[in-house]
Amino acid sequence: MAGSVGLSQALSYARDLKSLYETSRARERELEQAQERLRHAYAQSRQYAVDLRKTYRRLQHAIFQSLLGLANALEAKDAYTRGHSERVAALARQVALAAGVPPAEADIIAQAGLLHDLGKIGIPEHVLRKAGPLSAEEWTVMRRHPIVGAQIVAPLEFFADGAIIVRHHHERHDGSGYPDGLRGERIPLGSRIVAVADVYDALTSDRPYRPRLSREDTVRQLRAEGGRTLDVRLTTLCIQVTDDGAAERAI
Ligand SMILES: [Fe+2]
Repeated sequence: MAGSVGLSQALSYARDLKSLYETSRARERELEQAQERLRHAYAQSRQYAVDLRKTYRRLQHAIFQSLLGLANALEAKDAYTRGHSERVAALARQVALAAGVPPAEADIIAQAGLLHDLGKIGIPEHVLRKAGPLSAEEWTVMRRHPIVGAQIVAPLEFFADGAIIVRHHHERHDGSGYPDGLRGERIPLGSRIVAVADVYDALTSDRPYRPRLSREDTVRQLRAEGGRTLDVRLTTLCIQVTDDGAAERAI
C-alpha cells in the first residue's frame, strides 16, 4: 500500500514538474517574443531619431537659405551695397585658405561673410541710408547690427561658429571696435578675416561720397590699417590674394 502511495505521489510530482516545465518554456517563448518586439521598437525609434535629425538639419539649412535671401534683399535695395556680401564672402574664403584655415572652416567663414550685415535689417532706413554723418544716437543704433545679426542666426546649431564671427566682425585690432572692444588675437580669426574682406570691398567700391579707390590707394590704405584696425598678417594675405585680380574673377 505504502509503495502505491509513493508511486502515485511520484507520478503527481512528475506531472507537476512537467507542467511547470511547460509553463516556464511558454514564459521563455513569451519573453523571447517580447525581447524581439522591443528590439524592433528600438530599431524603429532609432530610425525615427535619424529621420528627425535629417529633417531638422534640412529645416535649419532652409532657414539659412531664407536668411541669405533676406540679406540679399536688404542689400539689393541700395546700389552701393549690391553684391557686397557675396564679394566679402568670396574674398574671406580666399584669405582664410591662404592663412591655412581648413576648407570646412573656410566655408563657415564665407557663410558668415554672406550674413555679416544681416543685423542691419533692424536699423531704420533713414539711419542706414543717411548721406551725412550719423548723430551719436544714430551711431548707437548702427553699432547694434553685429549683435542683432548674431541673434538672428543663433538658433542655427550648425552655424554656431558663424554666429560668433558675425557678432565680432566690427571689432578692431587695437580694441577700438564694437560690440565688445576685443583686441588682437582675442578677436575670433573668422571675424578678423571678414573684417579685412569687408574693408577691402568698401575701398574698392563706389560710395555716394567717393569713387572706388585705385589698386595703389587700396593697398596703401590697407597697409595703413594693418596693425591698427586690422590684423597685419591677414591684411598682407588680402593684398596678396587680390594682387592678380583673382578675387574679382572669383566674384
Ligand atoms: Fe557690418
